[in-house]
Amino acid sequence: MALDIRIEKIAKSRVDEIDFHNIPFGKVFTDHMLEADYVDGKWTNVVIRPFANLSIHPGNAALHYGQSIFEGMKANRSADGNPLLFRAHKHVDRINASARRMCMPEVPEELFMEGLKKLVYLDKNWIPDVAGCSLYIRPFLFATDEFLGVRASETYKFMILLLPVGAYYSAPVKLKAEEKYVRAVQGGVGEAKTSGNYAASLLPAQEAKAQGYDQVMWLDGKEFKYIQEVGTMNIFFVVGNKILTPETDGAILKGITRDSILHILKDKGYDVETRPITIEEIMQAGKTGELKEVFGAGTAAVIAYVSELKYKNDIINLDAKQFQIAPMLYDTIQGLKTQTLPDKFGWVEEVTADEPNFAV
Ligand code: COI
Repeated sequence: MALDIRIEKIAKSRVDEIDFHNIPFGKVFTDHMLEADYVDGKWTNVVIRPFANLSIHPGNAALHYGQSIFEGMKANRSADGNPLLFRAHKHVDRINASARRMCMPEVPEELFMEGLKKLVYLDKNWIPDVAGCSLYIRPFLFATDEFLGVRASETYKFMILLLPVGAYYSAPVKLKAEEKYVRAVQGGVGEAKTSGNYAASLLPAQEAKAQGYDQVMWLDGKEFKYIQEVGTMNIFFVVGNKILTPETDGAILKGITRDSILHILKDKGYDVETRPITIEEIMQAGKTGELKEVFGAGTAAVIAYVSELKYKNDIINLDAKQFQIAPMLYDTIQGLKTQTLPDKFGWVEEVTADEPNFAV
């Protein structure tokens, strides 16, 4: 079923002003954005319009009580110049899992996908044609009630923004295992991609930075014993000939890049374990030389090599130049996303002008 999506085009694109070889992450937005409102239990007013500021009531419920969730996805350019979406339906599922946890309405798959495809096709000239760069897609949903009582909002806004981006981390990262602050506990909102989780990570990240570290590696909130994830990514360890990553247990974000990696590794016959992993066992493996590689995985970061791990008074240094699995995964994921490798998992969707009801 085709949705009624109104399209208001800008008079003149800004794309020619962009230096695609020098794009800072998160600062450059494309010409258009998608907006839809949830009012009286229904989605309405679906519009793609020129990128512009919003006008927000000072009593906006999201500003005060944090009903706000988001996704991070990427698109690349096909050989024909069309947008290639990567695992978009997984992101629909995840935003709706976050919505359920945060007591927000789900975004219908049709609204998300049709809106996204039309928007990304309209702004397809913004997809960087530069190796390692992509179009970052930021779908998000927030409360819009103008009311200061604490209850679930009755109205919401769903939006999609597009940003051409380069690498999130330009060099290997140093991680500090966090011993004072926690990100999430069982029964909390750690699995939801909700804004407050990121706000709560800022002070620990700032303190880690002051000590020379790029990110914190979160430990579980009960015993400070089990590894959870890293500031903006899931985490993987190569120990001997096994590849380990914490199992998602309700407190860890179910990363889609994490899931892609698990599929790729299993497909290639690697020995993979998803299970509770203690910080002690990783530090011990670091001391004996069994710890071969550590890397983070996320949509924005793709694969980020880790060059240092600190826990209490111990430091493990890793030579990222010797890593073999992390670069193989980066190349495979980028190859799949850009269709330079065959899409054996059926993860890639090309958006063309021939889609039904799709004229823009
Ligand atoms: C992503 O990897 O897309 C994220 O959402 C992490 C971050 C940039 C907040």
